[in-house]
Order: sequence, then structure tokens, then C-alpha cells
Amino acid sequence: MKAVRCHAFGPVGHLALEEVPSPVPGPHQVVVTVKAAGVNFPDTLIVQGKYQIKPELPFTPGAEFAGIVKAVGEGVANVKPGDSVFGVGVTGGFAEEALIDAANLIPLPSGADFAVAAALTMAYGTSLHALKDRARLASGESLLVLGAGGGVGLAAVEIGKLLGATVIAAASTDAKLDICRSRGADAVINYDQEDLKDRVRALTDGRGADVIYDPVGGSYTASASRSVAWNGRYLVVGFAAGEIPQVPLNLPLLKGYSIVGVYWGGFVQREPAANAANMKQLMDWVATGKLAPLISARYPLSQAVDALFAMMRREVAGKVVIVP
Ligand SMILES: NC(=O)c1ccc[n+]([C@@H]2O[C@H](COP(=O)([O-])OP(=O)(O)OC[C@H]3O[C@@H](n4cnc5c(N)ncnc54)[C@H](OP(=O)(O)O)[C@@H]3O)[C@@H](O)[C@H]2O)c1
Repeated sequence: MKAVRCHAFGPVGHLALEEVPSPVPGPHQVVVTVKAAGVNFPDTLIVQGKYQIKPELPFTPGAEFAGIVKAVGEGVANVKPGDSVFGVGVTGGFAEEALIDAANLIPLPSGADFAVAAALTMAYGTSLHALKDRARLASGESLLVLGAGGGVGLAAVEIGKLLGATVIAAASTDAKLDICRSRGADAVINYDQEDLKDRVRALTDGRGADVIYDPVGGSYTASASRSVAWNGRYLVVGFAAGEIPQVPLNLPLLKGYSIVGVYWGGFVQREPAANAANMKQLMDWVATGKLAPLISARYPLSQAVDALFAMMRREVAGKVVIVP
């Protein structure tokens, strides 16, 4: 089978598409014939050795995928060959076949779209966990989303609206902001052209946003961390801009807000039942037409590297998937 392989941590351009033996499932493992794999910013980090987890080399990147069970190892009871499934591991998805722990797979209803399932897991799982479990976002509150045109960002815009918030989407291009508006954002800010803090203040009658969702970091955090309302929550989701920002701790003190960390992978490991309930909620929203992840591009396996480069150039809107 064909797989994208990483032989040394370093530039994404060094990844190669190779012919490798099909994986064989060990106890409690499953081999899935991949129909679609979602692309996430952490995939770009893991290849460069910049992620918190460093897999053994060589490895195949691609954390989330959907497909059909090809083979199961000893002791697997939750799925069987022929079942449609989706799930998240750490690596392995950018391939024709992927090996994954059975516990990390969720059955897909018949007729479900593999690309949508692959696009849903990490981005929407992260944003639902962040807004519901970590921020306890309430209906009627204001939510500011940074990087709102990207994967987790657009998911936060859409889920924020489903939870009843007034959503302000902030991004670097008007094209991304148009997409945010079409996905329900009530107001938009181009944070590369407008003053983020002034605009948030104007849009919230001087109060600041009740919840801020920050997957970007870098210099954007300096303005955003001054734009939180009294009793607000500042969600630390990621650092796509590269730099891990420092926030002066007098800000949460004087403004009476909380800084709240979000680590979806840790949540999945430590609270599997709560994550399963969140995934069910997301699938229900998709099934009832309330949620429809934007898949802005589909790349063949041979162009997986191009998908990663597009993400690193800030060109991706919503989600892109690899379709082997
Ligand atoms: N905490 C968790 O559990 C968790 C889970 C999944 C992902 N994450 C993190 O969340 C972040 C976003 O992930 P994603 O998959 O949604 O990525 P994405 O689709 O590429 O979105 C990232 C957004 O960040 C903005 N950005 C600003 N500077 C950038 C730069 N130098 N390079 C790339 N993007 C830049 C871009 O929006 P503008 O161009 O509009 O600024 C882009 O849309 C990443 O840091 C990722 O590691 C965290």
C-alpha cells in the first residue's frame, strides 16, 4: 500500500510517498482502509519535530481519518471488518491503510460521508470541548474567535452559534471573513487591517468578549488578552503563528477573567466517555443538518505535502482532506 513517510524530523518538503507493507493489527488494534484523512495544523508540527509528541521514525503523518475496517486484532469487540468508522490517532492517516487502537474508533452511520467524518473529529471535537467543557459558553454570551477561517476556528464559529452565542470572527483576509459570515458569524474583524482591541470594544459596548478562542498566539494574543469581559474566559488553544505568547498576569487579575487551557488529545485519553458524548452531539448536528463542515479542498495522497504547505501559508479555509 502507498503511504506518506517521514524518515527524519525536518522540513515538510522532505516527506515522500512510498510503497510499504500493509499494516497487521496486533491485539486491540484495527487496520482501516482509508477513504479520507483530515489535515490539521499539528500534522505540520509533528513532521518538523515541533509537536509535544515525537513518534518513532519512520512514521506516516495524519492524525484523523475515516474509512472501512479491513482487519481486526485479537480482543477487538467494538468494530468488525466491513464496518464504516472514523477516529483519531497521532499518526498513520496519510496512507491507503492505517493502523489504530480499536478504542480510538467510532462507528459511522451507514451512508455517512467519509470526508465529513474525517474533517469533523479533531477540529470540531476540539472546539466543542473548548466552548462547552472548558469555557462553559452560555447562550447570549459574546464569543471572539481568532483564526476564525481555519479548521478549529471555523468550527468554533459554527459551534458558538449552535450554543447560542453572539460570534465575532477575526481573521487575516476578507475572503476568510466572508466565509465566517456565511457560516453564521454576527460580526467580523480583519485583524491585519483593523485594531482588534478597539473593534472588540466597539462591538461589545465596551465590555469585551465573554469568551475568547485563541488558536493563533503570536502578537495577536497581546490585543486579544486585553479584550476579555469581566468574568470572561480566555481559551488557550494553539500557537499557529509560531510564537508562544506571554500574558502579563495583572490582566486576568484586574479584568477578573480566567485563562483556560484546552488540550483535546488529553481530554480524549482522560475522559473517553465525555468525548464520546461530544462526538455523538457533533454527529447528531451533522445528521440533522445543523452542522456541515466546510471542506474547501480535497487532495490525492500524492499531493498530501501540498495540503500541508497550503496550511503553513495560511491559505486553508475550513478543512482540507486527503482522499487516497
Ligand atoms: N489545543 C488543542 O487541543 C488543539 C487541537 C487541534 C489544533 N490545535 C491548534 O490549533 C491551531 C490551529 O489548528 P488548525 O488545524 O485549525 O489550523 P489552520 O486551519 O491552519 O488554522 C490556523 C489559523 O491560524 C492563523 N495563522 C496565523 N498565523 C499563522 C501562521 N504563521 N501559519 C499558519 N496559520 C497562521 C490562520 O488564520 P489567519 O490567516 O486568518 O490569521 C489560520 O487560519 C494550531 O496551533 C493547532 O496546533 C490545538
